[in-house]
Amino acid sequence: MKLHDELVIKADALYKTYTLGKGIQVPALRGASLEVRRGEFISIIGPSGSGKTTLLNILGLLDVPDSGTLYIDGKPVVGLDDNALSSMRLLKIGFVFQYYNLVPILTAIENVELPMVLAGVRPKERRERAKNLLEMVGIPEMADHKPNEMSGGQQQRVAIARALANNPSIVLADEPTGNLDTVASEEIVNLMKKLNRENGTTFIVVTHDMEVAKKTDRILRIKDGKLYGVEEI
Ligand SMILES: Nc1ncnc2c1ncn2[C@@H]1O[C@H](COP(=O)(O)OP(=O)(O)OP(=O)(O)O)[C@@H](O)[C@H]1O
Ligand SMILES: [Mg+2]
Repeated sequence: MKLHDELVIKADALYKTYTLGKGIQVPALRGASLEVRRGEFISIIGPSGSGKTTLLNILGLLDVPDSGTLYIDGKPVVGLDDNALSSMRLLKIGFVFQYYNLVPILTAIENVELPMVLAGVRPKERRERAKNLLEMVGIPEMADHKPNEMSGGQQQRVAIARALANNPSIVLADEPTGNLDTVASEEIVNLMKKLNRENGTTFIVVTHDMEVAKKTDRILRIKDGKLYGVEEI
């Protein structure tokens, strides 16, 4: 087996600079490198503006780096066209956001079904799977509720179920507890930990909260657009 086959993510020397209207250059990533093994639960901490969201967007194929290499499940992704990137994103990546980003007019179960609709899963099968996922995240009774009828913690559970819908290789979570109180935060990180342990799902969680980071297998720090192990700083 080649080395990168067992790695869900292998990123080398990623650079990304944003150009503002007046030609001002904002460097966001400056040689970020990262290797993530299947089944790992990793957290990334770092100050505001250090490039955390930029990194997740690139790892999640929502954005492309200016330079560097990126392999997802052993496949090189830099240089793929938009169609190839979208289908890879749909099938291999799950996203969880700080503000949940659920579709407000859809019920919980419909939100969970959405990525499966896009992936062409048949209605009966996707309804069944969405039901199971809501059970797995602990809120089967919320299936027919809309987001505004749920607490923040419940909405984030729905978002996690949605992220898992197409059984992705990796779930990327950007401040998933940033909008939750202490109790709900702990419940959400415990849930992610359970899903990681029981289903082997790989998680990368960006967080400001050391209580969240401490529960993960490995903490990385991002500083000036580069990643370090905590022990390296
Ligand atoms: N779309 C954009 N256009 C221009 N500059 C951007 C854009 N997105 C991010 N930046 C800049 O890139 C740098 C990294 O931003 P990024 O959002 O990745 O940081 P972050 O670590 O996620 O911060 P936070 O903790 O506040 O969410 C910052 O200097 C930011 O201002
Ligand atoms: Mg951010």
